[in-house]
Amino acid sequence: MKTKTIYYCQNCGAQYSKWMGQCTVCKEWNTITEEVISKKDSKKSGNHAAHIKTKVRKLSEIDTADEYRITTNNGELDNVLGGGIVPGSVILLGGEPGIGKSTLMLQVALQLPFNTLYISGEESPKQIRMRAERIGIKNDNMKLLFETNTQKIFHVLEQEKPDILVIDSIQTLHTDYIESSAGSISQIRETTSEIIQFAKKTNTPVFIIGHINKEGQIAGPKVLEHMVDTVLQFEGDRNHLFRILRANKNRFGSTHEIGIYEMNNKGLTEIKNPSKLLLTTHDSELSGTVIAVSMEGLRPLLVEVQALVSTAVYGTPQRTTTGYDIKRLHMILAVLEKRMGFKLSAKDVFLNITGGIKIDDPAIDLAVAVAILSSNNDEGISPQWAFAGEIGLTGEVRPVNRIEQRISEAEKLGFERIFISKHNKINPKNYQIDINLINEIQDLKRLV
Ligand code: TYD
Ligand code: MG
Repeated sequence: MKTKTIYYCQNCGAQYSKWMGQCTVCKEWNTITEEVISKKDSKKSGNHAAHIKTKVRKLSEIDTADEYRITTNNGELDNVLGGGIVPGSVILLGGEPGIGKSTLMLQVALQLPFNTLYISGEESPKQIRMRAERIGIKNDNMKLLFETNTQKIFHVLEQEKPDILVIDSIQTLHTDYIESSAGSISQIRETTSEIIQFAKKTNTPVFIIGHINKEGQIAGPKVLEHMVDTVLQFEGDRNHLFRILRANKNRFGSTHEIGIYEMNNKGLTEIKNPSKLLLTTHDSELSGTVIAVSMEGLRPLLVEVQALVSTAVYGTPQRTTTGYDIKRLHMILAVLEKRMGFKLSAKDVFLNITGGIKIDDPAIDLAVAVAILSSNNDEGISPQWAFAGEIGLTGEVRPVNRIEQRISEAEKLGFERIFISKHNKINPKNYQIDINLINEIQDLKRLV
């Protein structure tokens, strides 16, 4: 058997022919390790391409009429996948340890009316049984296999012929054709490609669970994300109840939809109508607390922005955010300083989106600016007011997408007033809620 040595960066998956101290791609130190690959036999793992008949076709000859989808009975997951599972697709589910990946997959496997095989290399069958009891669904169509060797797994698959396969997790698998240990880049790459071949050959959909490394990348190598059809990310703050499922890549649907779940003592509950979820109820004005109408995918989600501005004790003022981009906070502080003359450079600024979720929607900028001013001046903002607008570098308040939907949601939830950009084209007569049009952030002076 011919062996070959390749050096892989365990952080980003870059490949080298010799050892180096620093990876030239991701710049990490001491991440490059030697991996031994048995070359000859790895060809046996199914390179029959030359024997398969291939044929060129015109686009018009390709039938798109009924793209078949398997519904998972989990509405949030179906949505994120773009309407269900596409047969033969390989879906990678990534997330930090302990976030709930195994719980989600076990729950989905138990809800499916098909023969599902759950392969675990992480937990013992007893642990999984206990988790299933907690979730409280009984389903004998789901079977369990405790195995990490892919050759043995494929042998079982030939006999069992499951309709859907779950692998928990890719980092525990190993193939006989690679000598390096489970979880190394070459093992992950090879076992994933074997699974993909299986999925495509048998048209069986496969969910692969993958842990995230400290940089937030799935299983270290980006290569893995290129190989699979769909990359889902499960995120949230472990100390909070809410979990968000996002598609970072989807060959069969959009990446706009998100799924929202709540982790409780019976597993993950879908949250169909999340808009009000993250608001804490308080009736009085609190300085530094402002409500923003953001959108997550196609659904409105109201979030509470909290800012704390205080005099910097040490030389360099601190800026800390949770759930909001720190660069955007710096930008908004610079705009407030330049356009409104606030001396924020000598202040510590802490910014928090409550509920432990990350918001990318620029429409919450306006609420962020108001929260900072409100805390700085110690002036409360009415909890009956909501905000939706993006802030530009010149201090202009810019229009945001889906404004009608945002206004309607604020109205539905009983807010008295919503502040939006003057440049959003809407007819205020269509709404009961008071609409305040803002042109630039200087207009906020009358509020705080
Ligand atoms: P788990 O699915 O094991 O996470 P991952 O596979 O991503 O590492 O979930 C672990 C956490 O979820 C654990 O701290 C316990 C919690 N949990 C609940 O709160 N309720 C439940 O019903 C279950 C099954 C787990
Ligand atoms: Mg797990």
